[in-house]
Amino acid sequence: MATIVKSAGTASPSALPTPARCAAPGSPGDGLFRLPPLTDAEFERFQTLILHIAGVHLTHGKKVMVASRLLKRVRTLGLPSYGQYLERLQSSEDEVDIALDLLTTHETSFFREPKHFFFLRDRVLARHHSATPLRIWSAACSTGEEPYSIAMVLDESPLPAWELIASDVSAHAIRHAVRGHYALERGAEIPARYLKRHCRRGIGEQEGTFLIGRELRERINFRRINLNAQLPEIGTFDVIFLRNTLIYFQDETKRRVVARILRHLRPGGYILVGHSEHLHGHDQDLLRMERPSIYHRPLDEEPRRPARHL
Ligand SMILES: C[S@@+](CC[C@H](N)C(=O)[O-])C[C@H]1O[C@@H](n2cnc3c(N)ncnc32)[C@H](O)[C@@H]1O
Repeated sequence: MATIVKSAGTASPSALPTPARCAAPGSPGDGLFRLPPLTDAEFERFQTLILHIAGVHLTHGKKVMVASRLLKRVRTLGLPSYGQYLERLQSSEDEVDIALDLLTTHETSFFREPKHFFFLRDRVLARHHSATPLRIWSAACSTGEEPYSIAMVLDESPLPAWELIASDVSAHAIRHAVRGHYALERGAEIPARYLKRHCRRGIGEQEGTFLIGRELRERINFRRINLNAQLPEIGTFDVIFLRNTLIYFQDETKRRVVARILRHLRPGGYILVGHSEHLHGHDQDLLRMERPSIYHRPLDEEPRRPARHL
């Protein structure tokens, strides 16, 4: 990593802001209070909430996970039960954002599924000869590792102009992504030349962290966008990264989300999904599978392969 930064001026890289509270020992807010177990009825209300907002389906097997992910938050707020927390959600949109963030999975890493980044470099960038800027959308970017990986590859290419939009439904994840501040070990998969060029290692109170350089951070347009709702006017893209997100949707939601996103894919463009995901059965007329997890929207004049290849 090139430069040393003493203070990134940011909070701990992964800490969720939690309001400070004073609580009497033994009271719900002292962090030691035992909550009554999450009931099936309460679980179903959380299930409905997340399904309604983000389209994310929490199977019944996730009940223990829901209870444990919310436990600290409920205690921090000094509430005596999950039911009381559900009441709080009725009256606070900010709290709904926090619950949404806690109940969705943000697992990600720099250069995750690296074949996609080779594909981007060797296939997409190498063949982009159009005068119009190459446009890429990281459509569920979590805490930013995916779009920063994309931006490092783009920055290295000879392309004169490119645009990168990165979005997620989680406001907290987007705030983290905008800061570009990570624990040092999260940089393990970043190639050395990119570390040197784009990452600043922290010292002092920032020891054990690194910050993505300002030049790269400012090249990315971070937005909060819910794929389970009408999309804003963001234009069309040459490549859309939609990785490791469709797995959380049920078939009907997945169909609607993919259809909505495909309206933003340019003819000749690509959509990339996670290695364990596929788009079989989705818009067979529009897409053909280039290779597993990589789908191509042919130019209008290109012949399309039969649907069985999808
Ligand atoms: C497992 S992460 C994947 C991150 C990254 N794409 C990757 O592959 O490493 C899934 C992300 O999808 C986001 N997500 C879930 N539902 C969403 C929705 N309806 N709209 C936008 N993002 C959503 C979550 O907030 C989470 O950050």
